[in-house]
Amino acid sequence: MMDRDSWVSNVGFVLAAIGSAAGLGNIWRFPWLTADNGGSAFLVMYLLLVVGIGVPGLLAELVLGRRGRQTPVGALRSLIGSRWGTPLGAFNVVTTVVMLSFYSVVGGWVLRYTLLSPSGAYFAQPQQYFRHASHGLPAVGFHLLFLAIIGIIVYFGVSRGIERVSKIMLPAVVVLLGGLAVWTATQPNTAAGYAFYLDFDGDYLAAHFFDILGPAAGQALFTLSLGAGAMLTYASYLDDDVSLPRDTLAIAISNTMIGVLAGLVVLPLLISQGIGPGRGGPGALFVALAAAFSSLPGGTLVATVFFLTVLLAAITSGINLLETPVATLVDNYGMSRRLSTLLVTLLIAVTGSGLALAGPAFRFVSGPVVDVMLTVGLFAFLAIVGWVLRDDAVTEFRTGAGRLRGLATPWVLAVGWVLPVVVMFSLTTTLTSIASLSVPTSTRVIIAMVTTLACRAAVTRTTH
Ligand code: TRP
Repeated sequence: MMDRDSWVSNVGFVLAAIGSAAGLGNIWRFPWLTADNGGSAFLVMYLLLVVGIGVPGLLAELVLGRRGRQTPVGALRSLIGSRWGTPLGAFNVVTTVVMLSFYSVVGGWVLRYTLLSPSGAYFAQPQQYFRHASHGLPAVGFHLLFLAIIGIIVYFGVSRGIERVSKIMLPAVVVLLGGLAVWTATQPNTAAGYAFYLDFDGDYLAAHFFDILGPAAGQALFTLSLGAGAMLTYASYLDDDVSLPRDTLAIAISNTMIGVLAGLVVLPLLISQGIGPGRGGPGALFVALAAAFSSLPGGTLVATVFFLTVLLAAITSGINLLETPVATLVDNYGMSRRLSTLLVTLLIAVTGSGLALAGPAFRFVSGPVVDVMLTVGLFAFLAIVGWVLRDDAVTEFRTGAGRLRGLATPWVLAVGWVLPVVVMFSLTTTLTSIASLSVPTSTRVIIAMVTTLACRAAVTRTTH
């Protein structure tokens, strides 16, 4: 096999991984999910799940990637054999293609709003403007433009493309977002927005605990880029002297801070303009926030800076999603990166255009389909680490881990016993809500436990 590209430095990897994590999930998805699910109560639940599922789950992906030293198909095949490894790896690659098909459409909207903010084109009638811009031929055009940008970066490869771009764009996102948060704090009438976001409401949390668990878990996976083998791919370019637990903490903490910062910009602005939390939803950023900008002093400038920030964040996430299928063709078929980038980009040009033209399909794919695919993917990673590899995973965790090596054993126990049930519960919740069934919480807990045990029995029987 050809020599594989690799990161120039560990800092480069960490920045690229934070770049992958921090994206539309933090700035577009997180604020409206928070607004729709009780504000601070959702924030608390989300933070708990990032710590409880996100951190150990991310570690599982990084361990699999560095141990397997290849993209998902090759890595999983070499770790657990082709019977399970090939289909699971292929499922990951399909997930990244599906993800990017919708992600690139939203990236296209952001690109359009960045270019048109200086003229305030959408200020007069934000609602109608977004309806016109979000689907149909204009959306196809901007989707293709966004895809071309990330295609060019990925074409240049890991060290010369992805690492270099992430090192510039991610710090820029943090600085711009920080500036916007400070600016927001100087605006009038933001107190109610901060209160909604930050005053912890224990009663709401208690009353809606299991209602917000599903969306909060989905968001924890989405924001940390888990369950698609994309972080696994980034970790496959890592060396043995790197501490995986330390890098995981750096990625999770930075990403959470960026998410909270985005909330400090978006929610107070929305609420200060009298745009209540009830009017959230996927259009929140493009309709409600656009309306807020139009009535603020210096609105065109702030809007331009804001959408530029979102665009940079979306680019560093999009390249992570594109790298996975591109590198898979390179790893498994010995294809050149140039040809592989071209083929995958063409494929996503078509699938993304389909979603840009068909509103209902877009909504179904970007919500339930993605949630289910990521959850199933993460469940598989946990099963592989906790049930099949176990000691090998502990060894990989400890390699280069320094002082944090002692955490390997509690980690692998959590990954094998507790987390699969929690993730299966969240999958059951998502599936029953897609099917509009109301299944009592206790029944779903039992279903989750039984299914997990059945999977465990099947996997251990066929891999030993
Ligand atoms: N985490 C990114 C965001 O919040 C999206 C993303 C990039 C992603 N790569 C991923 C999500 C892999 C799931 C899997 O915008």
